[in-house]
Amino acid sequence: MNLLDLNQENIPNHVAIIMDGNGRWATKRNKPRVFGHNEGMKRVVDVVENSLTIGIKYLTLYAFSTENWKRPKKEIDFLMQILIKYIDEQLNRLISNGVKINILGDIEPLPDKVVDKINYAIDSTKSNSKLILNIAINYGSRQEILRAVNLAVKDGKEVSEEEFSSYLYTKDQPDVDLLIRPGGEKRLSNFLLYQMSYAELYFSDIYWPDFKMEELLEAVKWYQERNRRFGGLK
Ligand code: FPP
Repeated sequence: MNLLDLNQENIPNHVAIIMDGNGRWATKRNKPRVFGHNEGMKRVVDVVENSLTIGIKYLTLYAFSTENWKRPKKEIDFLMQILIKYIDEQLNRLISNGVKINILGDIEPLPDKVVDKINYAIDSTKSNSKLILNIAINYGSRQEILRAVNLAVKDGKEVSEEEFSSYLYTKDQPDVDLLIRPGGEKRLSNFLLYQMSYAELYFSDIYWPDFKMEELLEAVKWYQERNRRFGGLK
């Protein structure tokens, strides 16, 4: 499969990915779980580049959920380090490739140096628009929806669907067209529940550290074969 196998007229605008299976990938190799996260970061680098190549405009990656705080402190610390490493190593490329970084979630409880790094990355890429890279960190969809409701209540108004969307972290962005979940599980794990109302759901048994261009092309090709009706008839 290569790029030419895709229908250029039907590239998903917004792709979201639950990057699952890092731990199992490492365990299978008799390595510590964090080894899998490190390899997972390399696939983040790849998927951003590959999304640019394919022409995806919005890419949302689930990096850390509100539930991930239940993991051992060592693993949490490692994931925080990886975020810093990703920004340190990739920021210049992201800037020159036209990628804009946006965060979904509440980063306040993260260590100060992670928050500072993220804010620096947001600021350095704010005038880009070729690819919007949403990184979901300390993100939970129910929390996001409740936050939006409470913001609307604070504004003292009843809101339309469109106005409601503007209270979400994905403000001004289109709904998700394609959700990709590698790692074998078939669930949504509190991710973008509002934005995925009409998304096509693609599940793969491959672990995230093995999810390369070929797998992304497969997923997009699969998406192009779907008949999206949005509740209507076709
Ligand atoms: C799920 O696999 C993965 C995570 C909780 C972390 C995802 C983070 C990265 C890929 C690191 C880099 C991210 C960015 C944006 C730079 P798991 O550990 O739950 O795997 P398992 O189900 O096999 O245990």
